[in-house]
Order: sequence, then C-alpha cells, then structure tokens
Amino acid sequence: MKILDNIADLKKEISSLKGSIGLVPTMGALHKGHQSLIEKAVNENDNAIVSIFVNPIQFGINEDLDKYPRCLASDSKLCEEAGVKIVFAPKISQMYAEGKENLTLICPPYSAVDKLCGKSRIGHFDGVASVVAKLFNLTKANRAYFGQKDAQQLFIIQKMVRDLNFDIEIIPCPIVREEDNLALSSRNQYLTKSERALALNISKALFEAKKLAKTNTITKRAVIDNSLKIMEGLEVEYIEFVDINTFEIQDEINKNTLMLIASRTPETKTRLIDNMKLFD
Ligand code: PAF
Repeated sequence: MKILDNIADLKKEISSLKGSIGLVPTMGALHKGHQSLIEKAVNENDNAIVSIFVNPIQFGINEDLDKYPRCLASDSKLCEEAGVKIVFAPKISQMYAEGKENLTLICPPYSAVDKLCGKSRIGHFDGVASVVAKLFNLTKANRAYFGQKDAQQLFIIQKMVRDLNFDIEIIPCPIVREEDNLALSSRNQYLTKSERALALNISKALFEAKKLAKTNTITKRAVIDNSLKIMEGLEVEYIEFVDINTFEIQDEINKNTLMLIASRTPETKTRLIDNMKLFD
C-alpha cells in the first residue's frame, strides 16, 4: 500500500493502476463505519483508494477544525489490513494551492442546503461538494462510497454527480452502530462518559419513532414530542422528516419518510447526527 501526500505522486500512481477504482473519501479517525465502506470498496473494485483529508473549507469558524482527531498512522494500518492500494492524505497546500479564499467552489442549490444541517452550518456543503469533486477528478474513481449517516451530504453528492455529469457511481452504505445502537462517528470520541449515555437516546428516539409509525394514525407532532421526551438533556438542533427520494421536508409521515435528528451534548457541545427510514 502506498501512502501519498501530494498530487503529483497520486497522478503517477493512478496512471499505473489497471482496472476499476473505488474511492472512499474520509477525514480520517477511521472507525468501523469507515471500515465497512473500505471493505466494500476493496471487494467491488480492482483498486481501492482511501482519501484522508480534514477539509478546512467545510468547517465553520466556530466548529471543531483544530481539534478534529488526526491519526494517520492507525488509519493507514486499518487501510493496509483491509487491502487498500493507496491512501491519499494530502497537505492543505496541495489541495488548495492557490489559497482557500479565491477558490472556485461548487455550491449546491439553496433548496438542498437551506434545511437540516445546512441551515446551521452555512457554507458547509459548498466545502464538501467542492472537495469531493476535486477527489473525484484526482482519483479518476469509477465508484465512490459514502455512509448514509450523513444523509444530506449523500443526497447533495448524488445530485452534484447528476447535475454535473460526473462519470462515477455513488454507492450509499448503511449506518454502522455500536452494540447499543449509537451511530458510529469520529466525533464520538469527544464524548464524556455521561454524554455517551445521553447520546444513546438519539438512536432510541429513532427506533421508537419507527415503532410508532406502525400505527397508521401517527402524526409528525406526536413523533417529535415523543422524541423530545426521550432526548431530554440533549440540545436538539432539529428533528425533521424528509422524503427519502427528493429530500423535500414532509408535512406528514408516509412510506418514504426518512427521519433525521441533529443535537448537541450538554458539556462538550459535540454535534451528533443520526437518521432512520421509518418504514422498511
Ligand atoms: O463525510 C466526510 O467525512 C466528509 O464530509 C468528506 C465526504 C470526506 C468530505 O470532506
């Protein structure tokens, strides 16, 4: 396995690869969720590339860019053991050679970003779409693997690929959970012991909502009220319901409903997200 930190070496390496390329874009601090994406990429392609880049342009000024965990050595080990061919871990100066300020950006439409995470994280999805587009171009990947935990990100990237005719297949991968159902996230390592216990109530609210949705008469309001009760002690940013195909906010729950939650923990203010389809 090669660990490359610059674009010239990556291009050289890519030009010598034979067969299909599967890309797993990450910001590192790899966990079992990433591992499932990586294993899928390895199994479905002749070559798997993992990018590890804490992308500064997708963080807001008061967000956790500086403290975001960086652990290239253990991440590389995980990739090597999984059978990855290339880890691409570029420096910021490689990705944004002409500076971050004068960058040509890909800006997803207002309709896709003016809700859910995009509402509080202004500019976040411009940063995500732009870096992902760069990674697609640099790696010449045939397939790219994204987790469904970041549901709005996945929707936006799928739309970008359709709108801009990227020649790449996007493979959505299921959320991976701890045994007690906490969705895996690199940010879970910020949690104190008591916050970790509290954070469990996010997935609990989703599983309860799924149960409630089985009763035909259930309203959005009733699900929200029940979820807020379960999540007491967490600072809830949103509890929302979208159509899984269009990502339009729904007034009523139906068979296409994806329920999404974002909330912060009380002490470390860790922002956690999770989601679940209410009907199978
Ligand atoms: O989901 C992530 O880790 C990041 O948003 C991504 C897709 C790697 C872009 O920086």
